[in-house]
Amino acid sequence: MAVIIVSASTGQHAAVVYEAAILAGLPLAGYVTVTDGPPMSLLDCRWLGRLDAVLAADVASGHQFIVACGSNALRRTLTLSLQEAGASLATVAHPAAILSPSATIAPGSAILAGAIVGPRAVLGRGVIVNHAASVDHDCRLGDFAHIAPGARLAGSVQAGAGVFVGLNAAVLPGLRIGADAIVGAGAVVTHDVPPGVTVVGIPSRPR
Ligand SMILES: CC(C)(COP(=O)(O)OP(=O)(O)OC[C@H]1O[C@@H](n2cnc3c(N)ncnc32)[C@H](O)[C@@H]1OP(=O)(O)O)[C@@H](O)C(=O)NCCC(=O)NCCS
Repeated sequence: MAVIIVSASTGQHAAVVYEAAILAGLPLAGYVTVTDGPPMSLLDCRWLGRLDAVLAADVASGHQFIVACGSNALRRTLTLSLQEAGASLATVAHPAAILSPSATIAPGSAILAGAIVGPRAVLGRGVIVNHAASVDHDCRLGDFAHIAPGARLAGSVQAGAGVFVGLNAAVLPGLRIGADAIVGAGAVVTHDVPPGVTVVGIPSRPR
């Protein structure tokens, strides 16, 4: 059963996921786009066509899908529609990521080079733990959260669905980040963040 990468926008994140999948030794069928034509060359990955044109045949043939785009909202929409169409989801973990054996990672997620997922962490569907980000012990990440490169979640942080934590941000132990909240690049979060709120700075404040 091979994996199909869904390249949803510019293809940049898809290239990252593609390379991680290749290095992880996953069998790849190719990639699909959501608009006409390949958005960019995905190294030597084969373009299979538009998602809507190939979906039924590829679901029937048992392929697994991973939606590869940095936008939490778009990744959510596409992943949910794939699941509604009966598709199963692949998880891609770069071989240079460190995943605790006691962590749980739901399908459709991408754990990229240098990332660390600690003991008993629980990650939802379609989560991205980007390059060199860390999600420490007992953290819980809701569906379609994205932890950007170099960001650090200390132990027992709870981040709701759709949360985005920007480059090199840090979240102190045990804090709660509400659904769809955004933590700006470089922020240090010292208090809980309500759902949908953007915080920036050190210590972080709503913007
Ligand atoms: C917080 C963030 C989401 C705000 O985005 P935005 O709403 O488009 O904000 P703007 O760029 O319009 O900036 C608005 C103001 O906030 C300030 N600001 C933006 N991001 C900031 C940050 N991370 N920390 C401190 N101040 C920030 C800007 O300097 C600007 O201030 P000014 O009005 O005094 O000039 C964004 O700047 C950010 O940090 N994104 C993270 C990007 C990232 O990590 N990407 C990883 C991709 S894998």
